[in-house]
Amino acid sequence: MNSLTPDTRLDIAQLIYQTHMSKVHHLWLHSSDSQACVALIAEGISEDNLLLVTRQGKLVGVALFETQDFPHALNFTFRFFTRHFGVFSSFRKWLAFICYKRAEIKLTPETFHIEALVVSPDFQGQGIGSQMVRDASQLAGELGKTQLVVELPEHYQKMLAFYHQLGFVTKSKEKVKWPILSRFARRADASSYYVLEKDLLKDDPACRNAVPSS
Ligand SMILES: CC(C)(COP(=O)(O)OP(=O)(O)OC[C@H]1O[C@@H](n2cnc3c(N)ncnc32)[C@H](O)[C@@H]1OP(=O)(O)O)[C@@H](O)C(=O)NCCC(=O)NCCS
Repeated sequence: MNSLTPDTRLDIAQLIYQTHMSKVHHLWLHSSDSQACVALIAEGISEDNLLLVTRQGKLVGVALFETQDFPHALNFTFRFFTRHFGVFSSFRKWLAFICYKRAEIKLTPETFHIEALVVSPDFQGQGIGSQMVRDASQLAGELGKTQLVVELPEHYQKMLAFYHQLGFVTKSKEKVKWPILSRFARRADASSYYVLEKDLLKDDPACRNAVPSS
């Protein structure tokens, strides 16, 4: 199934790129070629892992999520890399992306991982982000997941209040452990990050009927 039009894919990619530029450059794609980065993200977005919000036909919010059954919100194959970056530099980029994904949080049958949450700058502060987290909670419950998880780089510390307000608790503060990744994580200002969790069974009466899929 592929119901996203190329234009919608591009809008989603641009929104993600604008708000996660440093992460895209240093962790996801290892390139500051904005056009190529946006094109690759547009191609790699998996529509099974998306929540979108529109206002008057305009895309204003995107959430990327991952579960054990749908583990790749950004499905970048080697072929996609070569299409946008050429064969020569693609191998390193592709390998780096695989390492980055391997170092991310381990998905369990219960977890619903919010990989990215983005509201268009002109529409921030209007409750859209909060609503997307509530929608994500509901979807997670429908999928039989019992725990929402977010990793938040330390420099987003102010954002902790946003998630706490929505029922998340800070579980731990972690450091990127893989030596091969830590240099890039430093550049992306993401060497340390908070792991936030929301227990859906405990916090959200609407999800109490969720049946873990394990
Ligand atoms: C984070 C983000 C998704 C929040 O979406 P939003 O639609 O602006 O959030 P809401 O309007 O639902 O805000 C809910 C509350 O969180 C607070 N909040 C939102 N963004 C905040 C920020 N960047 N810093 C501090 N507080 C923030 C709001 O002040 C509001 O509090 P209030 O209800 O007491 O007024 C949005 O700011 C965004 O896209 N930021 C850029 C991407 C990013 O930084 N993502 C974080 C990593 S996941």
